[in-house]
Amino acid sequence: MNRTPFSLRGRVVIITGASRGIGAGTARAVSGSGGSVVLVARSADDLGAVAASLPGPSRVVVGAVEDPAVPAMAVAAAAELGDLWGLVNNAGISPSYAPTAETSDEHWDEIVRVNLRAAAAFARAALPAMVATGAGGRVVNLSSIAAFAGLPNLVAYNCTKAGLDAMTRTMAVEYGPAGITVNSIAPGTITTEMVQQMMDTNPALAEKFVSRTAIGRVGTVDEAAWPIVFLLSDAAAFMTGQVMLIDGGRLAGA
Ligand SMILES: NC(=O)c1ccc[n+]([C@@H]2O[C@H](COP(=O)([O-])OP(=O)(O)OC[C@H]3O[C@@H](n4cnc5c(N)ncnc54)[C@H](OP(=O)(O)O)[C@@H]3O)[C@@H](O)[C@H]2O)c1
Repeated sequence: MNRTPFSLRGRVVIITGASRGIGAGTARAVSGSGGSVVLVARSADDLGAVAASLPGPSRVVVGAVEDPAVPAMAVAAAAELGDLWGLVNNAGISPSYAPTAETSDEHWDEIVRVNLRAAAAFARAALPAMVATGAGGRVVNLSSIAAFAGLPNLVAYNCTKAGLDAMTRTMAVEYGPAGITVNSIAPGTITTEMVQQMMDTNPALAEKFVSRTAIGRVGTVDEAAWPIVFLLSDAAAFMTGQVMLIDGGRLAGA
């Protein structure tokens, strides 16, 4: 198939957490680049609305990413669209804020299950399907600047994102010989609905987010999604095991 290096024409990509935010934006960007998408999340209505808004083919898988049955359901849905090319492990939670000494085992278990273990389970289901095509593939894991900075009151979240980056490097080495690249995207503050709401109701927090960037503003969902499309494309074929910061220069400064 003829495609330009940045095109995803004919490529099938599973996106977890695709019912809103960065995942929904990534679905729109992948579909707009010619790809077919499998959308995974728990909210059936929201997933249906995202699917209906896409210009290209899609399938919807309703379920929790930590449910052991769901990764295989996503791979089966992808097979209906064609050979599996990409996996975007985007679903992530940050359910509460507390200092380390007040972070419970239950909180650790929940966040590790969703942010880290489910990403591994999706990779375990998707990688053999990609290897079987013989055409290579792509995995993109949604990390965060939290993997690099000791963001206070978010110890478990920070650790899951650093863990995802370790997973990225490990899988990159293991699956490079099969032509499968594995990279992380590490966004700074991106104005999903929830973040925008927080900023609208707390101008001091909004000012803090903005003042720490070099660019002088926070990022949009599209600005997180397009670098993911790049990593999924042929243009990024020689890039693997990397963590790409999409933070408006927040970590570039002291
Ligand atoms: N926004 C930012 O500023 C920012 C910055 C750095 C990193 N990130 C990372 O980027 C990713 C997306 O963030 P976002 O801001 O777009 O989040 P969001 O707006 O809260 O959306 C999260 C998505 O994940 C899904 N999800 C959550 N728990 C799930 C579960 N157990 N099973 C299946 N789906 C689940 C949600 O859908 P349902 O509720 O329908 O299941 C939703 O589609 C996350 O990994 C986050 O850590 C975001």
